[in-house]
Amino acid sequence: MNAEVAARDFDWEDLRAHAREMTTKSYVPYSKYPVGAAGVTTDGRLVRGCNVENAGYGVTLCAECGLISELVATGGGRLAAFTCVNGVGEVIMPCGRCRQLLWEHGGAQLVIETPAGFRMMDDILPQAFGPQDLDDYEERVSQ
Ligand code: THU
Repeated sequence: MNAEVAARDFDWEDLRAHAREMTTKSYVPYSKYPVGAAGVTTDGRLVRGCNVENAGYGVTLCAECGLISELVATGGGRLAAFTCVNGVGEVIMPCGRCRQLLWEHGGAQLVIETPAGFRMMDDILPQAFGPQDLDDYEERVSQ
């Protein structure tokens, strides 16, 4: 489906407000760049996350990590809509690694708010590697 059309099902102002609120919880002593993320599941649950940094810089948890953890911990299911913002409320793109996280739990039908407008997940992670690749492989080798 067209992303602009798919996006009409969600209250983006509300989602952005939740994401912005999460930036006030971020632990960012190193980058000083807070990120808050918010999403809605296909069964209507709100899930959120904030970034949590670490003295071992590479161990940093992006805001999306917290959001996906909340998604799984509160019953799993599929993510339907997602946004993330920085500390001044600007919409930002999920990093490459977090696009992979979002793919696993939302797939092609997930609507993402980006600085350039709404996009479907398969637009921002084209030809994604995912669970289907593993299933296809297993089926092939078990024949
Ligand atoms: N960050 C996120 O939380 N999500 C992203 O998708 C982009 C980057 C965080 C990680 C780090 O704490 C800070 O932004 C600067 O890279």
